[in-house]
Amino acid sequence: GIYMNGAQGVVPELPMGFAATEELAQTVMDPRVLGYVAGGAGNEHTQRANAAAFDRLGIMPRMLVGAAQRDLGIDMFGHRMPSPLFFAPVGVLGAVADDGDLATAASSSELGVPMVASTLASAPLEQVRASAGGTPGFFQLYPPADRELTESLVHRAEAAGYTGIVITLDTWVNGWRPRDLSAAYLPMLSGQCLANYLTDDRFRKLLAEQGSTDPAAVVMLWASLFGNPTMTWEDLAWFRSLTSLPILLKGICSPEDTRRALDGGMDGIYCSNHGGRQANGGIPAIDCLPGVVEAADGAPVLFDSGVRSGVDALRALALGATAVGIGRPYVYGLAVGGQAGVSHVMRSLLAEADLTMAVNGYPDLASLRGALHRL
Ligand code: FNR
Repeated sequence: GIYMNGAQGVVPELPMGFAATEELAQTVMDPRVLGYVAGGAGNEHTQRANAAAFDRLGIMPRMLVGAAQRDLGIDMFGHRMPSPLFFAPVGVLGAVADDGDLATAASSSELGVPMVASTLASAPLEQVRASAGGTPGFFQLYPPADRELTESLVHRAEAAGYTGIVITLDTWVNGWRPRDLSAAYLPMLSGQCLANYLTDDRFRKLLAEQGSTDPAAVVMLWASLFGNPTMTWEDLAWFRSLTSLPILLKGICSPEDTRRALDGGMDGIYCSNHGGRQANGGIPAIDCLPGVVEAADGAPVLFDSGVRSGVDALRALALGATAVGIGRPYVYGLAVGGQAGVSHVMRSLLAEADLTMAVNGYPDLASLRGALHRL
């Protein structure tokens, strides 16, 4: 279709590929928000290494296998999904575009690609879920320091119809991010990303007890509750008791932690290093994936960090990921084109993955296992 249009002199309005999308986003985004989205911890070595590590993994082409029909579908927690991609939780979408969370959820509904909705959304989790329509989706929880607030958020997510809870473990305190430090900027402090708190009865009760409800007081209370520094493995049993929904732990990179999570009653692992935003001097997340998959012993393993193309997604799937999360690429899509931009990015990644499977002779995801060669 695109090439036929080109023959008539019509080229795509939206950029093709990550580099072009990022370049355009740099020209349209508020510099502080751009710094927040694009930046990472320290000198961003881990962030760059996340993406670069994919290029050391090559897919062996196989010929004449009859890959005219491809099936990129997966089964996860009782749901059949048409594709193995999902929207990773990103908490500043309201700062990137008005109603950014709802635009992303609408794209999730349009494409059937699940979204992991962030605690730090700019719309309440109930609205985000409603905008995602019939597409399954997860709620990402940053466990607050207050147990009743934690419980309230989990119960709201369950009542709203989420498929599961993703508990992010690696961000109970913010990492050292020089770009944000230089700009003295955190989008949460402008109150833009606090919709889930402001609509929460428990949060509102704590706010009322505090006396003042002006914007500065809201942000102060939020900051005092955001992360739970005392959480340990002992708390898993309590989380387990809160809900019958599947629970996944995000930020797990080691086989030991994988086993501990599953022994503690968790239903899946989300292998990620937060896109290199939290700790520099780390290990490319894709290099951690095989150990996590082995330790998970068949339990679902979601993966993100550094996926920039459809081919990268295939590389993670070939290493045993159940599903692959897209982070910064769709955020830039949102910045350059709203919902249409988000859908364009996701569709492009899927089309590239599908076409690469066709060219290389892999008709489904199971056949990809073992297709990788380390370069
Ligand atoms: C994130 N990420 C994230 N993760 C999470 O669990 N909750 C959140 O609210 C956020 N917020 C957030 C904001 C921004 C601007 C970014 C870029 C990322 C991490 C995200 O889910 C994912 O792990 C990374 O984006 C993966 O890295 P890449 O592929 O985007 O580089």
